[in-house]
Amino acid sequence: MQPLLRLKKVTKSFHQGSQRIEVLNQLELTLEKGEIVSILGQSGSGKSTLLSLLAGLDHPDLGTIEVNGENLAKLSQDELSKFRSENLGIVFQKYHLMSNLTALENVGLPLELQGMKEFGEPARKALNYVGLSDRVAHFPSQLSGGECQRVALARAMVSEPSLILADEPSGNLDQKTGKEIMDLLFKMCRGRGQSLILVTHNHELAKQSDRTLVLSDGRLKRVQST
Ligand SMILES: Nc1ncnc2c1ncn2[C@@H]1O[C@H](COP(=O)(O)OP(=O)(O)OP(=O)(O)O)[C@@H](O)[C@H]1O
Ligand SMILES: [Mg+2]
Repeated sequence: MQPLLRLKKVTKSFHQGSQRIEVLNQLELTLEKGEIVSILGQSGSGKSTLLSLLAGLDHPDLGTIEVNGENLAKLSQDELSKFRSENLGIVFQKYHLMSNLTALENVGLPLELQGMKEFGEPARKALNYVGLSDRVAHFPSQLSGGECQRVALARAMVSEPSLILADEPSGNLDQKTGKEIMDLLFKMCRGRGQSLILVTHNHELAKQSDRTLVLSDGRLKRVQST
């Protein structure tokens, strides 16, 4: 069966003045459908860079990224946006909600981008799933951090994407709220057979995933479970 995601020899560097920072160096990764993988790694090791390449928000210098057999480099900007809204759910540390939209409108946004006009019902359902059925009309400024992250989770799941990318989704939250968010994320992915790539600094959390990888020296290495 075709893997959900296949990265081959992905290389990425940044130029800062005359300095060249090599972040990813011939990185390889294959992810099966429904698999949950945690990525650990020191600050600056390139975890967020990797996720932005996976999301098609940036491009590798060399190497290929295939999602469902589709090479991201071959897609136009419009095709990439469509691809993202249909196949990916993205959750960041800082929620990235639109401040001028209500919770319901934020959650409905991926569906709207896909051209769906009647996004109210699925968006309401997603908000219900994350326990926010009584906050649909609230704006992000009227929600707590944990609630904002729940809205972001609902937005990531509303279009039922096959892959969720999460970059330290509990990083901005207190321990208890962070755990609630992470439990919800795992439940969501496991329950719906969605794949998850989770960037985290929390080793305990990583143990809940199917595989734990460490990004170091530009490559992903398997962590042997203890
Ligand atoms: N747009 C950019 N221009 C120049 N350098 C960049 C850019 N984006 C990232 N970098 C550099 O690439 C390296 C990797 O950054 P990245 O944000 O991917 O690290 P990270 O593993 O996510 O770190 P953290 O755990 O702190 O979030 C860093 O050294 C960073 O300074
Ligand atoms: Mg980061």
